[in-house]
Amino acid sequence: MHYVRLLRPAKIQSSTEGLTISLLFTITTDLGDSFLCPEDGPIDIIVAPVDPAASPVDSASVLLRGKQVCKYKWKAGMRILDAKVKLRPGLKKETVNCKFAIYPAQQRLRDTSTPLGALPVADVLPWRVDTNGKIRMGVIMPATFEFVNGICAPVSVRTLALGPGHYINDSGGGRILNLQFEEEIGESIARHIWDAGLVTSAYLADACSSPESIRELFPIERERFNVLELGSGVGILGITIASVLPKAAAAQGQTLIEAKVLLTDLDEAEERARSNIARGKATLGLGSVDGADVAIEYENLDWDEGCDDRFGPLAAATPWDLVVLSDCTYNVDSLPSLVGTLSALHAAKEQHYGAEAVKSSVLLATKPRHSSEQALFGLLKDQSWMYRVVKEIPLPKIGEEDEVVQIYILERGGRVV
Ligand SMILES: C[S@@+](CC[C@H](N)C(=O)[O-])C[C@H]1O[C@@H](n2cnc3c(N)ncnc32)[C@H](O)[C@@H]1O
Repeated sequence: MHYVRLLRPAKIQSSTEGLTISLLFTITTDLGDSFLCPEDGPIDIIVAPVDPAASPVDSASVLLRGKQVCKYKWKAGMRILDAKVKLRPGLKKETVNCKFAIYPAQQRLRDTSTPLGALPVADVLPWRVDTNGKIRMGVIMPATFEFVNGICAPVSVRTLALGPGHYINDSGGGRILNLQFEEEIGESIARHIWDAGLVTSAYLADACSSPESIRELFPIERERFNVLELGSGVGILGITIASVLPKAAAAQGQTLIEAKVLLTDLDEAEERARSNIARGKATLGLGSVDGADVAIEYENLDWDEGCDDRFGPLAAATPWDLVVLSDCTYNVDSLPSLVGTLSALHAAKEQHYGAEAVKSSVLLATKPRHSSEQALFGLLKDQSWMYRVVKEIPLPKIGEEDEVVQIYILERGGRVV
């Protein structure tokens, strides 16, 4: 999987010819360790105003007359694309209020409810085929950026379109739920989306249409269900889970009345995670998803503290039905404190119910990157966690070897409470 990534906020430059947006972006992997290298020829990349129909004054008219989009080519060997987008004459910089998407031309939208720059979940799942019956190859995640009064926001936004079955307020036939996630422009591990989180989110949203698939990964046996996410980063997995929980429950014959999803990470991730929770709440409606009261919250939780039983008030207050984490097991040095945190959460759950051998379940998604990560399984065994791979999702990658996202279920104790 590759990501369009802005290297710095876009700028509006002025010259005698008028205004030009100066854009510097790359197309790279989640880790930023390799650049898109299309061996079968250049890939057309489009820069276009988003949803001009919704904002005719600000967006549709910003480009030169008669231009709807600007097209660029990304070739093998490129590391940076320095794009200049000419704006129509007569515009004043401080009046430019609009959003732009950067996306590959081949990923153009097929339906009107998906905004430009959104990635439909079906495109992330490689066994899906496109309208021509071809199996999808590697995907490039688009990005959007926005000018407010001529100044570009310091974040770019990724949009995941949850697809058929997920509508805003379950109006059915209405607007498909499009979740937005801010990422920081520049480099920070805690403030980007990662492959395992994105693919697992797409899979869970898609699996809600199949009772067996969703039950296998996400068994909901009660009308109240609480999920804790560790290392949530920008929050893609936790926020997607909050958005699909009532559907996931309904697919299993349960009516969810109340649910809570608590995102946790280091304090450096907090600002972005909280912004994304606010965006999620704005999209989903105030606290209510499909009639269920779904709370999404954030609290800092450092595994170095969690493994010593030191939790914040929100994490400590609830015996969690499910703990989830994605792409958190690539750093071998932090595995002992991570597994220690899982065990401390299990002990807290036993204490809450005053019973030994209460069952704890964890959904762990990972894109294996190197063999040293196997150390995780030794640590899990040592602390009496059982584990099994429940799903392997192939992740085709343009110009490079395919990868895979594995979803594990870990369990400890046996008594379901
Ligand atoms: C590769 S990112 C994955 C983020 C997110 N889960 C996703 O899939 O997009 C790993 C995350 O683990 C967090 N992390 C690393 N060490 C941690 C620690 N000791 N305690 C809590 N979080 C930690 C990082 O801040 C980062 O957000």
